[in-house]
Order: sequence, then C-alpha cells, then structure tokens
Amino acid sequence: MCGIIGILGKSDVTDQLVAGLRRLEYRGYDSAGVCTIVDGAFQRRRAEGKLDNLAKKLALDPLPGRIGIAHTRWATHGAPTEDNAHPHIVGDVTLVHNGIIENFKELRDELSAEGRTFASQTDTEVVAHLVARELERGKSPIESVKAVLPRLHGAFALAMMFKGHDNMLVGARLGAPLVVGIGEGENYLGSDALALAPMTQKIAYLEEGDWVVLSREKIDIFDRENAPVTREVTLSGVSGAMIDKGNHRHFMQKEIFEQPVVVAQTLQAYLKPLEGKVALPIPEFDLAEVKRVTIVACGTSYYAGLVAKYWFEKFARVPVDIDVASEFRYREPVLEAGGLALFISQSGETADTLAALRHCRAEGQKIAVVVNVPTSSMAREADLLLPTNAGPEIGVASTKAFTCQLAVLAAFAANLARAKGKMTAEEERDIVQHLAEAPAALNAALAHDEEIEKMAPLVAGARDVLYLGRGPDYPMALEGALKLKEISYIHAEGYAAGEMKHGPIALIDDSVPVIVIAPSGPLFEKTVSNMQEVAARGGRIVLISDAAGIAKAGDGAIATIEMPDCHPLIQPLVYAVPVQLLAYHVAVAKGTDVDQPRNLAKSVTVE
Ligand code: F6R
Repeated sequence: MCGIIGILGKSDVTDQLVAGLRRLEYRGYDSAGVCTIVDGAFQRRRAEGKLDNLAKKLALDPLPGRIGIAHTRWATHGAPTEDNAHPHIVGDVTLVHNGIIENFKELRDELSAEGRTFASQTDTEVVAHLVARELERGKSPIESVKAVLPRLHGAFALAMMFKGHDNMLVGARLGAPLVVGIGEGENYLGSDALALAPMTQKIAYLEEGDWVVLSREKIDIFDRENAPVTREVTLSGVSGAMIDKGNHRHFMQKEIFEQPVVVAQTLQAYLKPLEGKVALPIPEFDLAEVKRVTIVACGTSYYAGLVAKYWFEKFARVPVDIDVASEFRYREPVLEAGGLALFISQSGETADTLAALRHCRAEGQKIAVVVNVPTSSMAREADLLLPTNAGPEIGVASTKAFTCQLAVLAAFAANLARAKGKMTAEEERDIVQHLAEAPAALNAALAHDEEIEKMAPLVAGARDVLYLGRGPDYPMALEGALKLKEISYIHAEGYAAGEMKHGPIALIDDSVPVIVIAPSGPLFEKTVSNMQEVAARGGRIVLISDAAGIAKAGDGAIATIEMPDCHPLIQPLVYAVPVQLLAYHVAVAKGTDVDQPRNLAKSVTVE
C-alpha cells in the first residue's frame, strides 16, 4: 500500500506535502517521511509511527524547498522503523514507492556483489540503488530511469527527485495507482486525486507501464515502450475540504450513522419507486444472456458478495461462483465464454481484486464492478459500472460501503431476475418497495446504539468470540467477527450455525460470548436449535433478532439486541448495524485506535 505525493511548487511545499499525506493516511500509517531540495541538495525528515510524529519533527526542524516528495508507509519489506521509512536517498537520487518489487532479493544480491551497502531492509532502496548506479555511470536522470524500469518486477508507483534538479519530478507506475495533477505554474504527483484535491482538480491518470517527467512548465508522459503518449485530463470532482468527523468521536462511528442517508442516496440510482421498477445505471447493458456469475472480492466486500450469491441464485436462478480474490487467480478457474465477472470493492484499488479483474478480462468475461471510488482503477476498467454512493469512507473498518454494496447487489439481483424472465412485475414492485424501506429500517436499528454501548463490557473482556448465522446471516456472522477482530483485537470467528457441531463447539465454555444473528424467518428455528446446543455447553449468548424472535428464544441469553421487523431482503443491511456498533463500542471500551487499527491500511494495493 503506502501513499505517495510529489510537488513542484512556486513556494515552500512541505506543508502541502504533509497535508497531502494526511489525505493519504488511509493507505498506511506506520511511518512517514518527506524530502525536499534546498540549494541543490536533499533535505529529509522521517519518523516512525503516525503522521503526527513527522509533523512534530517538522515543527521543531522545518524543511524549506519548492520541490519535494513525501510518503506514508504500510510496511511490506522491513519493520516500520525510521531507517525503513521513505524517502530513500542513494547518491544523487531520492525516491518514494508504493507496491512490492518482487525480484528485489535478486536485485539486492546483484548490487551487494558490487560492494553496495544498504541503509534499510526495504525493496524500495534497491530501486534507488539501481537508479543511482546508472547516474554514476554518467547517464542523465531520465536515461537512468528508462534503464531501471524494465528491471523491476512486481507492482510499483514511484516518485523520484534528483540532486541538482530542482525543476524535475519523475514518476512511474505498474500495478499501483499514480496520478498527475496539473496546476498553475505548479505540477504534482499523487497516489490518488484526493491527495491533490486542495491544489488541483485537473488530473491525468497514468496507465499501466507509464512513466512521466514533470517540470513546473510541462508534463511529458511515456508508455512502457518509451513512446510519448497523451493521457486524458479529467476534472476529479473530489472535494478539497478535509473530511471531518462532525460531532462524532471517530470516523467509523460517523460512517455507521451515515448509513440511512448513503443507502438512500445509492438506491436512488437503481430504483424507480413510482414505476415499481429496478434500473441499472447503464440501461443498455443486457443481462439476459448471463448464464453464470463469478464474484470476486476481498474482506468485507467479499462478505457482501456472499450475501449476493443467495440473492442471485434465489431470484434470478443464475449459478454463482465466489472466491476471495487472492485465491481466485491461482486456482485456474474455469470461466465460460460470455460469462459475467462481478468485482466488489470500496476502494477500487485492492491489488488482488484488480488482478483478478484483469485476469477475467483476458479470459473474455464481461466485467461488472460495484465500487465506491468512482475514479478508481476498477471503476475505469468496468464494462458495467455499479457505483455505491457512500461518499469517502475514512475509517479503516468498512461500514457504510458494505451496506451500500448490499443495496446495489440486491437491486442488481432483481435486474438480473427480470432480464432472465424469473421475476413477475408484481414481484419486482415488491422488491422495489422493500428496498425503499431500507433507510428507515437502518434508522430504527441505529436507535439501539446506547443499549449496545452498555453491553460492550460483556464482550470487551473476552479472549475469543463466536458469531453464528445461517443463510444470508452466515456472511453477516463472518462480517461481525471481522469487524470485532480488526478494531478490538479480540479473536473472533464467524460460523455457519449448523456447522458448529462439526468441531468448533469444542471451543465453547462460559468465557466465550456467542453472538447469534437470527432474524425471524424460515431458518430461525434451525438457528435457535444450534444456539441451544451452545447454551447447553455454557456459552454466553447474545441474540440479535426481531421482537418475535427475542420473545421466542431470548430467555437464557446474557443480552438481546432487538432489530426492527423487516423483509428478509433487507435484513442483511439492517443486521449489519448491530454488528458494526458492537465492534465499535467494544473497541472504544478497550481503548484501541478505532479509525486506524494496528497493522491495517484502508486500501490494500499489494498482493
Ligand atoms: C474490513 C475491510 C477490509 C476490506 C478489504 C477490501 O473492514 O475494510 O476487509 O473490505 O480490504 O477492500 P476493498 O473493498 O477496498 O476492495
């Protein structure tokens, strides 16, 4: 992952670089650094830990300079120490890098054999050495970069500066995003348009293999064959204002509470309530011929895909294969010609998902993408773009993007069902009506916030927690466990309720809270039987259900969370709220860093 930014400015750039890093902190936050050129020489400050540590250093020891590069890191090679923090300087070059150089060991051995020594354990420093070696051989900066890029395997976005060249930035990308920002007498490089938003909205997205030379006056882009190319300049539309928490304590809390509004705003593009119809944003895309859907995603987005599998098969009777992206590519999946491959991602940049998308494209699949960041790589590579209008999601744990994904996937399932002739006009009207009820039901679920906060101590002291659900509530159990793990650091597992007795039940004793997600419906009785098996072994049950479910099965639970009565179609959206709130309040009770939990990053752009 990591976030990178470079500025060729008219005046000192350090403050703008640090502000840009703040907007990129979602990409990694275990160390940060900045380097400028002052009187022809490099000046650098780096710090371990959060960006505030670097800001404090810079306050004590300011950094002038009208040109600079900066980096916020998510460690891949080497611990998050100051020595491993970017920018790396070797001889006359300094650079920042996002991605992984897969052949770094081989390159490092080659350089070591020549007597070169390394100041860090990073793969990035190897790139700096390669460029420095070309410079030492007498090549110009541009010729040096040209010589080195073909030697790098893996994924990278790079921004580089050269000693004595205070009007030149060089960037390159392959498998990791990099954008060029165009200003007035200033030019910029950044991992995304958001980083550059306060300075410019004019953005050129580099394509795979592109490299670029920037001065204050002009921008020259080259493709991987070193041929000059032009890339379209678009207006990003990303707000320059820093997104704030409003009156919430954390971004995650704010984003949980935004769900009724953003789900409504997302559904607007997919429903025609007056006509009782669902509609795709690209109406001419024909779904009638789709015989099989392959869903690929990671993490929370994958769990949204698992819920969608139930809907696609139930409503449209179309078979669905689903994989986590990191497994999909390497199992040699059989993809039928003309199939539809559906990718789900908040960021649209997750490396595994993007690689799977490109694999499916090469295998002749039609590409549909459910994505929250409209300018992302996945959005730009889709045949059928299905946006979730959740707005920027800053908390590392995904919340509102998930419920918006579910809303889009439910509407998409209905579109597919209609196109396949599996849904009557009456059934479609019914689905539209229930989806339109989702925002109000989400509001009703949020009304239980205080109650959930009060029960957080029941879970906060546990070492292990289990989540159980059946049918579409099974992915919700997985999602509940993931939310708890990532922000509270409590070990949690989600299980299909019926699978418990095949092994995991051995874990149950009176120290293990078991969160049971069981709305009333056809699977309720069966889930409750599994819950009784747990209770009989001393497990401490927290039951999440509706009034009828709690009346039937709530006795003996250490706590119950009552959700509004709602149609089974929107239950996964509504039941997302209590699992999110429970994880949130447990994390707050434990005092963890809710918005930036340890070891994680918002956008995982390495495989
Ligand atoms: C969990 C979480 C991650 C992401 C996963 C995929 O709360 O945020 O599991 O869901 O990294 O990211 P996207 O959706 O950006 O592809």
